[in-house]
Amino acid sequence: MEGIMKNQRIGVGIIGCGTISEIYLTNLTTHFKNLEVVACADMFPEKAVQTQKKFGLSRSLTVEELVTDKNIDLVVNLTIPGAHYEVNMKALQAGKHVYCEKPLALTYDEANDLAEEAAKRELIIGSAPDTFLGAGLQTCRRLIDQGEIGEPIGFTANLVSPGHELWHPAAAFYYETGGGPMMDMGPYYITALVTLLGPVDKVSCFAKSGRKKRMIGQQEVTTKVNTHYTGIMELSTGVTGNVNMSFDVWDSDLPLLEIYGTKGVMRVPDPNMFGGQVTIFDGDKMRETVEAVKGTPFDRIMKMHHCKEECVKKIESLYPEENIPRSNMRGFGVADMAQSIIDKRPSRINAEVSKHIVEALTAFDQAAQNGAVYLMKSTCKRPESLPLALELWELS
Ligand SMILES: NC(=O)c1ccc[n+]([C@@H]2O[C@H](COP(=O)([O-])OP(=O)(O)OC[C@H]3O[C@@H](n4cnc5c(N)ncnc54)[C@H](O)[C@@H]3O)[C@@H](O)[C@H]2O)c1
Repeated sequence: MEGIMKNQRIGVGIIGCGTISEIYLTNLTTHFKNLEVVACADMFPEKAVQTQKKFGLSRSLTVEELVTDKNIDLVVNLTIPGAHYEVNMKALQAGKHVYCEKPLALTYDEANDLAEEAAKRELIIGSAPDTFLGAGLQTCRRLIDQGEIGEPIGFTANLVSPGHELWHPAAAFYYETGGGPMMDMGPYYITALVTLLGPVDKVSCFAKSGRKKRMIGQQEVTTKVNTHYTGIMELSTGVTGNVNMSFDVWDSDLPLLEIYGTKGVMRVPDPNMFGGQVTIFDGDKMRETVEAVKGTPFDRIMKMHHCKEECVKKIESLYPEENIPRSNMRGFGVADMAQSIIDKRPSRINAEVSKHIVEALTAFDQAAQNGAVYLMKSTCKRPESLPLALELWELS
């Protein structure tokens, strides 16, 4: 890896060939010149073979073979949360950089361990979500930093839903240790807030499981985790807000994410996605302004991405049916990490941020359990914003 040169492609190996691997592989094998997916692995070899064939990869391997393969520089860990720590550590100890699906690990101590192991070996490790690199949240960041809503005061973050068994083909893991709405959906919201407004300082929370038995397909499972969280966070800037994460709510009109400032309100697009409309309510004019999203969908996308004219043609040909880009650009963070290895610059997805997010996520359970405010031990810097005038899928 020492010999990685400019213009060289980073060799990527995927571990975990399940539901989410489909979109990663689609994007990683289509949109990025700075990496090449060399091989895949799964604890079930037949799944790895299937994935290898479907995406035309050169090899399917065992996990041990993949982490020691000399053509692989960066391991993308798409296994279930309960396996993240073990697979991440294995990859680091074999000398590979690691991009992990969220969360990086299930406890702060484990996340710390991984960060230390990576630092010792001068490797990069970090975890999803990478949605904060999308046009939606990058636009929010720019507008907040420009002072469009004045000084941020507070926020509300709400992911209240009936649970993933309504759509996920193998949803049992969401009700095992490491599952639940805070560990599963919290990462999108907490990462959005931290990258927009800065690190978390204090967490308080009440939490419970509203439905102890759930039907996953034909099977009844017992919930082992909290599934209804009513939390509050204070950020290091003094900004405060509530965080409601639930798999126990059948329906709701709560906004996903709103940020309140001295001059206005920002309605943030879905932090689980890369695009979406950014709306600002201007307190002086007492009306909604749509600074970042005027005009037709094309104008809006061009403005949000700061696209050049040619970009529109690419969008049309890539997404003919919907005529607007799908906002599932998962893998963008992997490409950013690959570029950071090539350019020897900091990766926007990194151990400091991912570790801080794991601590914040687990803080909700700790605060609820202890009936006390949790004081955060870690902190982090906001990752660099993306530059303007990028083409779709372009990064720098
Ligand atoms: N499904 C989604 O829509 C979605 C969206 C965003 C993020 N994620 C995240 O992606 C990760 C995977 O979720 P999924 O929905 O793809 O799960 P999944 O169960 O569909 O797939 C996980 C795959 O990992 C394999 N695996 C598990 N443990 C392993 C181990 N120790 N070694 C090798 N292979 C192992 C399984 O055999 C399976 O093929 C989770 O962290 C989840 O939070 C999922």
